[in-house]
Amino acid sequence: MPKVLFHKHGQVFADEVKDNTNLVVRAGIKQFPYPNLRYECGMGKCSKCACRVIAGGEYLPAPNWKEKKQLGERLEQGYRLACQLWISHDIELAQDDEANAAAPAAAAAA
Ligand code: FES
Repeated sequence: MPKVLFHKHGQVFADEVKDNTNLVVRAGIKQFPYPNLRYECGMGKCSKCACRVIAGGEYLPAPNWKEKKQLGERLEQGYRLACQLWISHDIELAQDDEANAAAPAAAAAA
């Protein structure tokens, strides 16, 4: 089972997930990385779920067109859209506290 390390708010959250897991789908059913993962649309349209891949990026598929459209030059800095990733290997991710918080989105902490 893939191990996920998730950095947010200066803390590291860790858990194992099933093979081929989408972290936004999990957060949507209140499982790790809920409530710490910020997301909104789940469809590659809002970029709220953008995370920087610290380790394990070599196992991910190439960014899809939605990631290219939403992330632009941030792709080169290692960012990916969590909602577009199906995790099947260990991965370490960080989500910036304010990176995508331009819009009043109040997605996560409810
Ligand atoms: S949740 Fe909107 S792009 Fe991932």
